[in-house]
Amino acid sequence: MLCAAEDVESGKTGLDDIRFVHNAVPELTKSQIDTTATFLRRRFTAPVFIAGMTGGHEETTAINAALSEAAERLGIGIGVGSQRAAIEHPDQVESFSIVRERAPSAFVVANIGATQVKEYDMEIIDRLIDMVDADALAIHLNFLQEAVQPEGNTDAEGCLDAMKSLADSLRVPMIAKETGAGISREVAAELKKAGASAIDVGGAGGTSWARVESYRAQTDPLLERLGALYADWGIPTAISILESLTLPVIGTGGIRNGLHVGKCIALGASLCGIGLPLLKPAFKGTRYVLSEIMAVVEELKVAMFLTGCKTLPDLKQCPLVITGETMQILQQRGFNLAELQVRR
Ligand SMILES: Cc1cc2nc3c(=O)[nH]c(=O)nc-3n(C[C@H](O)[C@H](O)[C@H](O)COP(=O)(O)O)c2cc1C
Repeated sequence: MLCAAEDVESGKTGLDDIRFVHNAVPELTKSQIDTTATFLRRRFTAPVFIAGMTGGHEETTAINAALSEAAERLGIGIGVGSQRAAIEHPDQVESFSIVRERAPSAFVVANIGATQVKEYDMEIIDRLIDMVDADALAIHLNFLQEAVQPEGNTDAEGCLDAMKSLADSLRVPMIAKETGAGISREVAAELKKAGASAIDVGGAGGTSWARVESYRAQTDPLLERLGALYADWGIPTAISILESLTLPVIGTGGIRNGLHVGKCIALGASLCGIGLPLLKPAFKGTRYVLSEIMAVVEELKVAMFLTGCKTLPDLKQCPLVITGETMQILQQRGFNLAELQVRR
């Protein structure tokens, strides 16, 4: 798989511009730190979510098995990749349904693109949900990728209306999900009106689909050029979290350690999605996925300890310093920085 073999990350998350203020007298015992998170009325042992990545190919069954076994063991949520492949090729259903088989009690999120929502009727949507006995459905937005991909679907008209009519009859919550270019405050408001119950910001700074496509397009100089030019495009994850807080937020895009998770939670996210860093461990097996996620949770606990925060709600109140480009962008986007810094 190209994503596991090449450097497909690009841009900045903005998280380097966010700093915690060290607390030299935290007045708590590290072993008592509680990382319990809540999202869409479900509780998780930690605010880590396995971002939807894969399915739709025989080889991906083993990857999804490893990811879902880890989710089940750790008590965290997991998404699957776009289920379009299973609708078009029913022999691929197992690569998705394995997730519910191996994670019977986990919070599982089904996945389909906004452009498919325009085409699919409720019967197909029900099949997607039943395939993984989903607790929520993510509608992915990936127009950057479509624009730099050979024969990408760039007919983006009517997505909000289609999402709205879907949400009206959907039996699980709908999560609007970007895939690496982020969500703005204006778009978050539109998505809320369209019936989304939560937003997965999929911000810039992690896996870049423009970058992935530029590798794939090496026989087409124009597409290669487009992919390279737009590799950094998008709203950095840190900023997109703040822009999307009109709904519960999953902070995804370039989350690489527990300090990143802590910063996203302090900015207001409910969970943090991690994609690419779990892909290589998933190729190797469940215990490698477990150890990567457990390391991230341990890193988060150290951030909580050193800021004197016993729980995630405490972390949301903890003071932050915002510097550099992120501060400038937030100022230009009309955020009240004094309020952001003091409130926390
Ligand atoms: C190999 C791979 C496949 C992915 N496939 C999908 C997909 O089918 N649907 C989707 O909504 N997002 C997909 N994503 C995007 C991830 O859910 C996530 O938003 C993105 O990778 C950013 O997180 P990261 O920087 O931690 O990788 C995929 C990501 C990777 C790495």
